[in-house]
Amino acid sequence: MQVQLIDQRETISPLVDIQRLQRYCQQLLGLLGLSEKTLSLILLSDAQMAQYNQQFRAKTGATNVLSFPAGFPDEAFAATHNDLGDVLIAVETAAHEADEQGCSLMERLVQLSLHGLLHLIGYDHERSEEEALAMWDKEQSLLAQLFYTRRHTMPHLAVNVDHVATLRQAREAAEPDPVLAAALCELAGARGVVVHLREDRRHIQDRDVRLLRQTVKTRLNLEMAVTKEMLALAMEIKPDLVTLVPEKPQELTTEGGLDVVAQQKKIAAAVNKLRKAGMLVSLFIDAEAEQIQAAAEIGASHVELHTGHYCSAAGTAEEEKEFVVLRNAAELAAASNLLVNAGHGLDYRNTDRIAALPEIDELSIGHAIVSRAVLVGMEQAVREMLAVIQQAK
Ligand code: PXP
Repeated sequence: MQVQLIDQRETISPLVDIQRLQRYCQQLLGLLGLSEKTLSLILLSDAQMAQYNQQFRAKTGATNVLSFPAGFPDEAFAATHNDLGDVLIAVETAAHEADEQGCSLMERLVQLSLHGLLHLIGYDHERSEEEALAMWDKEQSLLAQLFYTRRHTMPHLAVNVDHVATLRQAREAAEPDPVLAAALCELAGARGVVVHLREDRRHIQDRDVRLLRQTVKTRLNLEMAVTKEMLALAMEIKPDLVTLVPEKPQELTTEGGLDVVAQQKKIAAAVNKLRKAGMLVSLFIDAEAEQIQAAAEIGASHVELHTGHYCSAAGTAEEEKEFVVLRNAAELAAASNLLVNAGHGLDYRNTDRIAALPEIDELSIGHAIVSRAVLVGMEQAVREMLAVIQQAK
């Protein structure tokens, strides 16, 4: 057995589904390429953990997780001759932390098991800030693969509401309000809201982003150029995800991906700053291997693959060619431990093939949805105005 799970507590409260936890830990070993290794996971009460903490670290009280590499003198445990070592978890502490974080006890136990496991294979967040970031990254990407594995679920839809604001700005009026539109998108099942705050403020305004930060219940993704002004704004507003995009003043819409290779230093500094402040950072890039590699090297959490060429392909052969480019890029990005989003130009005809790619985590779609909303809502809007006229005295 790869993962030996021992519940050493005297009482089984809080209750833990041992087999499920064991399965998750086995999957983690697989994702880390350690299927051949064995690991012991020991569940303890807080009082038991406090004893080990005192005995081995001379510290008072319980901690949430402790790791002991194989070979550590630990005759107290049933499994002494395993390859990787022992991970000890205090279940009561884990349950308190799960409550605080608003996640399930199982999720917290998996997080702690992974944390302990990463320590066993050499990660150490206490050595330096860089190592702390590397460990955090690894944890996030493995947990994402474990809990949100795309092979069994559909990608999330994040709706870009920029063009609701475009309509509002056409009259410089108060309506339609992208903040209200975003709430309706969430009610309909969208898992994220996207806005692009352009330097010229042609559609989304600062006020929109600030309000959305307060109202969005799913995930707020702020698209922005890599400028001093935008970085300061992101640091203040703290969206959940920042997508860095190239921006040209005269373009109608974003015309291509970021050149991460050419602008590595500047983009790396921005990614580093945002990530240190706790934000996820995605780079909007063309589906090219060197851009993906550069994105992974500079520590982005995500890439967003530019689907524009696939969407605007003239004819089946070109569309097929662009699709294969995207599919290969999605595979490479996922293999490089990046989470993979995709977007630009996706509509009701061309989205299904991209949505079927197992590596895609999230689709960012705007223009097609806003366009359709105008048309499918038109009848209702006319009927409502006719009612107003008919009821006039
Ligand atoms: N992703 C990025 C990076 C974008 O710039 C845009 C356009 O604002 C989109 C996705 C959405 O594209 P569309 O409006 O064509 O769906």
